[in-house]
Amino acid sequence: MIYLKTPEEIETMRSSSDLVSRTIGEVARWIEPGVSTRKLDTIAREFILDNGGKPACLGYGGFPATLCIEVNETVVHGFPSDRILLDGDIIGIDTVVEKDGFCGDSCYTFPVGTISEEKMKLLRTTKESLYVGIEAAKAGARIGDVSNAIQTYCEKRGYSLVREMTGHGIGRKMHESPEVPNYGRRGIGPRIQNGMCFCIEPMVNMGSRNIVIAPNGWDCRTKDRRPSAHYEHTLAVIDGQAVPLTTFDYIKEVLQDRFI
Ligand code: MF3
Ligand code: CO
Repeated sequence: MIYLKTPEEIETMRSSSDLVSRTIGEVARWIEPGVSTRKLDTIAREFILDNGGKPACLGYGGFPATLCIEVNETVVHGFPSDRILLDGDIIGIDTVVEKDGFCGDSCYTFPVGTISEEKMKLLRTTKESLYVGIEAAKAGARIGDVSNAIQTYCEKRGYSLVREMTGHGIGRKMHESPEVPNYGRRGIGPRIQNGMCFCIEPMVNMGSRNIVIAPNGWDCRTKDRRPSAHYEHTLAVIDGQAVPLTTFDYIKEVLQDRFI
């Protein structure tokens, strides 16, 4: 069941989406070699609470933290820990904020210090594929058109797409229908219409698409241990086009000329 949102509900969703965007912007200030991922989690949790939101990942299905931490080969759902970030790492920060009864979900993968050219290319391509997917998300098109656009863009550039994890509808709940896979055929899946709200979140691997999920059911890594990148926006379909409710502008303010 896909819950279409009224224009008023979409306006309300802007507040959780803005807060999750600001939260990742705040975390961006602290990302540097030597910081622990637990420290980043504490900063995010306090920032969300100070701004009237609820860290929606914390306790979700037993998830123990505010942030999903994705260092190098971690694809999604890594736990914050005492691990110290090193020069040359990449780190995805993925989190969900609930505010005014609705959720906002976003993810951004950051370089830590100076990263290799091949990691930089992976980040660029993954981020570009998010916007390629958004562009394909027009009323009248199908979810498969979005999936196929992302897959085609990334595979042409030599990367692979994780299949087990997908984007998703969003609203009062973090995960609603429909699923938004990052691979698939054009012309299949639900038809996109005004009022639909969903997250597009390409998870792109430098090596093979295969993943391994830890026995705890969360921590998801590439099987070949090569790096993976992940970017995500919460979107609403307005006047025939999916538009982001989340923004990377706060991150851009922090990173300035390091923003890719
Ligand atoms: N963007 C992630 C997802 O859609 C957020 C997960 S929060 C968690 O899966 F609590 F499930 F970890
Ligand atoms: Co998501």
